Amino acid sequence: MDHSWLTLLDARVPRYTSYPTAPHFHPRIGSAIFENWLKDIDPQKPISLYVHVPFCYQLCWYCGCNTHIVKGERPVELFLKNVLKEIALVQRYLPGRPKVSHLHFGGGSPNRLTADQFDQIMLQLHQTFELIEGAEIALEIDPRHLGHLQTEAYARWGVNRASLGVQDFDPEVQKAMNRIQPFDMVAGAVDLLRKAGITAINFDLLYGLPLQTIDSIHATIEQTVLLSPDRVALFGYAHVPWIKKQQKTLERFGLPSVQQRAELAFYARSELEKHYEPIGIDHFAKADDSLAVAARKKQLHRNFQGYTIDEAQTLIAFGPSGISSTPQGFAQKEPELAAWNQCIEAGQLAIRRGIALQPSDRLRSAIIEQIMCHLGVDVEAVAREHSQTPEQFLPCFDRLASFAAQGLVRIEGWRLSIPENRRLAARSVSAAFDAYFQPEENHHSAAV
Ligand SMILES: C[S@@+](CC[C@H](N)C(=O)[O-])C[C@H]1O[C@@H](n2cnc3c(N)ncnc32)[C@H](O)[C@@H]1O
Ligand code: SF4
Repeated sequence: MDHSWLTLLDARVPRYTSYPTAPHFHPRIGSAIFENWLKDIDPQKPISLYVHVPFCYQLCWYCGCNTHIVKGERPVELFLKNVLKEIALVQRYLPGRPKVSHLHFGGGSPNRLTADQFDQIMLQLHQTFELIEGAEIALEIDPRHLGHLQTEAYARWGVNRASLGVQDFDPEVQKAMNRIQPFDMVAGAVDLLRKAGITAINFDLLYGLPLQTIDSIHATIEQTVLLSPDRVALFGYAHVPWIKKQQKTLERFGLPSVQQRAELAFYARSELEKHYEPIGIDHFAKADDSLAVAARKKQLHRNFQGYTIDEAQTLIAFGPSGISSTPQGFAQKEPELAAWNQCIEAGQLAIRRGIALQPSDRLRSAIIEQIMCHLGVDVEAVAREHSQTPEQFLPCFDRLASFAAQGLVRIEGWRLSIPENRRLAARSVSAAFDAYFQPEENHHSAAV
């Protein structure tokens, strides 16, 4: 297949899990400002919560997440004590007991916590917030470390979705990435979850890893389909060894070239599309899954966890590095575990950076969200919804002219749409509406 159009995409465009994106947050947003944002929460509207658990049992060489491998249990116990305190600190500023429609535990590996530790967090969250009937409670899970005591605790607290880090089933690829998890182990974890009644299952798969071939990707997807997850996230491995030093280890095995990476990506996508509906740039969902239903109704959203049906305007994050989002702006927690512990112990909310949103940010954010979710947008309609006019975006359309000439985007008046077979251009098309993006910035890795 001819992938030459990919060379037109700027490898450094963001993934737009927020707009403005995190590199544009600044330290002038601190805990005092965030306290006011919390006070302004509308108690009538359901909000979302995110808890970042920054621990794993073993480091995967490819990992780009904020996590720690610790000796002994004391650092985990200290985290637990402080996350409970952090929830209590946030409670001081909340108007009453807000309703919650989505709760997501990410990491790291939330199942690095014992059932008892998980119970303590859930108890405190229930005392502080009202989890509404039918709320989605989701957990990211490392399938190598899941036991029945944990799944029973999850079920007791109403967890109803689990995202398993699978990445690749090939034994040689697994050795190269320092993550051995045979098919039977992953199948066992899925079985435990389903037996506990947690039936909504997501898998994360990665392409662009060392030793991956079309055959190995074929086998991985065949094995994935056997376990029948409802959703699959297919991420391109982001190689940023200047930030994540252990990723250098993967270079020993040789990373796929840009061309090989594109072939792996398109092959994986075409195999997944035999069983799932493609969603946005990197998700796949069964036709009856809520994500696929929302995509068809154009009700999909994008947040820090990726694609979601969550419509909440406010997300409160707990734990180091977590990013909260409110109608006024974004606020990110201190990312370093030790510094986060210190802040919380000192009774501070540990906000390190953020950004207050201007009306123009909100408008551009809405345009970019539609492009990322629905591969198209009517710029005039969105501008009018924000009581603005579309003419200010003429330079953005000019920037898209070369993409339009190459068939990466169709432009009709103020409407633009990305053809189905060019969905991976969505990030680059979005970047045309990003007032902060400087093409020479080096925050990102490969375009596909
Ligand atoms: C927090 S982990 C998922 C839960 C658990 N820690 C696990 O790995 O099983 C989130 C996901 O991010 C993805 N990921 C991690 N490092 C990445 C990287 N460098 N590039 C792209 N995706 C990455 C992986 O697919 C991983 O499953
Ligand atoms: S288990 Fe997940 S978070 Fe932990 S090191 Fe591996 S990919 Fe990263």
